[in-house]
Amino acid sequence: MKKPVIAIDGFSSTGKSSISKIIAEKLGIVHLDTGALYRGITWFALQNCLNEDGTINIEQLFSSFSLIELEFKNDTGELVLFMNHINISKEIRSNEVSNNVSLIAKQKEVRDFLLQSQRNLAEKGGIIMDGRDIGTVVLPNADFKFFLTASIDERTKRRYQELLGLGIEADENQVKENLIERDRIDSEREIAPLKKADDAIVIDNTMLTKKETIESILSHLKK
Ligand code: C5P
Repeated sequence: MKKPVIAIDGFSSTGKSSISKIIAEKLGIVHLDTGALYRGITWFALQNCLNEDGTINIEQLFSSFSLIELEFKNDTGELVLFMNHINISKEIRSNEVSNNVSLIAKQKEVRDFLLQSQRNLAEKGGIIMDGRDIGTVVLPNADFKFFLTASIDERTKRRYQELLGLGIEADENQVKENLIERDRIDSEREIAPLKKADDAIVIDNTMLTKKETIESILSHLKK
């Protein structure tokens, strides 16, 4: 039997990736965190495509796509992002990347560059992919679609704890501002905006633990 294709979209820091990872383990399928791809491109731009004033030179980035090789390697069950053979999974969580990623992700050229590889990974089934446009654009025919949401204060708390856990210095107010600003840019962009697919199941997990959110998703998968 073909294993399911599951799309998880939603606002920043609703736990999409960590929840998807656990569900993937439970179901014996692959997990792809698509946000990591946009973060990877942003990290590359910050390293290689800067104007003199420190802003990202978008045109230079577009002409550098051929220099970028993004690849997920299976490291004891977890897909880890490599760029040009370097493990960049920690670098892409930096505040600098978070502050720039939505401006990069709204570019049509960037989205086109990443679209097909995401779809290819889902071709054989057996994948849970999380992001902002998975149920609407990347995998509109996914077997199951979920849209996660939670209050901004709860999401701020979660992201702040996550950054501390990664050893990244953070200020709670700045974390909150970054989440609000990213959600705004992601929702308002012209191409593949952050929005619920018509046929997605909404889960507000403000009052739910991670375990309860996972149980809720699993109960829908069994139906
Ligand atoms: O999931 P994460 O918060 O790491 O995503 C970082 C950013 O990448 C988002 O704020 C959004 O700008 C972009 N993104 C996107 N489409 C996706 C996944 C992420 O535009 N499918």
